[in-house]
Amino acid sequence: MGAPARTASAWQGYRLFYSQFRQHFHTTGAIAPSGAALARAITAPLALAPAGGLRVLEVGAGTGVFTRAILGHLGPGDALDVYEINPAFRPFLQARLAEAEVEQRGIACRLHFASVAELAASAEFDFIVSGLPLNNFAPAQVEELLALFLSHLRPGGVLSYFEYLYIRDLKCALIQDAAERTRLRAVGAVVAEFLRQNPHQQIRVPWNLPPAVAHHVSRASPPRPPHPSRGGRAALPAGEIGAKGREIPKGGPPPGDEFGAAPARRSASLGPRAPKPA
Ligand SMILES: C[S@@+](CC[C@H](N)C(=O)[O-])C[C@H]1O[C@@H](n2cnc3c(N)ncnc32)[C@H](O)[C@@H]1O
Repeated sequence: MGAPARTASAWQGYRLFYSQFRQHFHTTGAIAPSGAALARAITAPLALAPAGGLRVLEVGAGTGVFTRAILGHLGPGDALDVYEINPAFRPFLQARLAEAEVEQRGIACRLHFASVAELAASAEFDFIVSGLPLNNFAPAQVEELLALFLSHLRPGGVLSYFEYLYIRDLKCALIQDAAERTRLRAVGAVVAEFLRQNPHQQIRVPWNLPPAVAHHVSRASPPRPPHPSRGGRAALPAGEIGAKGREIPKGGPPPGDEFGAAPARRSASLGPRAPKPA
């Protein structure tokens, strides 16, 4: 590909996404990119973050709908690493960085066309935003990915990821393949257990196709001190999202879901990882 176009039309994005869905269903996992409402919901914790020095990881960027929203929250001194396994999305992601004028705004961005399993063991982030299609993966892989993300969060950091609402139940009701039904149910159990063990908030996004829910999971810890130029915090305390007028389930997190649970641990089967720098 030549120099990245500064903007790429939404139509081109839908076309590319659909073609990748057909060619790489397992990793792409959706027929179309996420909508703007889901991008806002999944990046909501970033809006509360202190300015300067933030390290953000995006995983599974596709055509960059979330990338654009993330970059809208970043400023000078912040850094974004993007891991996208499918290099077909490269021109779109390059265009996202160009249109956001990241160099001029002093935001350090790196695009990695590789699996997130190759993340350097020492890498640490304040925010991790994942677009991975968890429903397509084996339950053990989902468990490891979620544990991997938590292990790369700085204390006080937030992991944000999404799931489509009702899709798992609908598929379980409709599919004939018993093994596939068992796999999907097991993925649902892994995600439910992960949320049960970790402090989290949810934002439902009915105006996405399909409707979705963004999960924001905190790594327990003291929050980063606020930057003098802008109040705020890196962790997402209960009630903040609601206070900003976005939809959260009535009643908030379930009882006992206190901020402060221990992060999960990573096990080995995600494959080799980059060595720790000396
Ligand atoms: C459901 S799409 C989401 C794309 C985009 N975030 C959005 O919401 O429109 C999932 C994306 O994850 C990428 N992906 C799947 N497995 C990955 C992995 N192990 N590491 C990095 N990216 C991966 C796919 O190539 C695809 O672009």
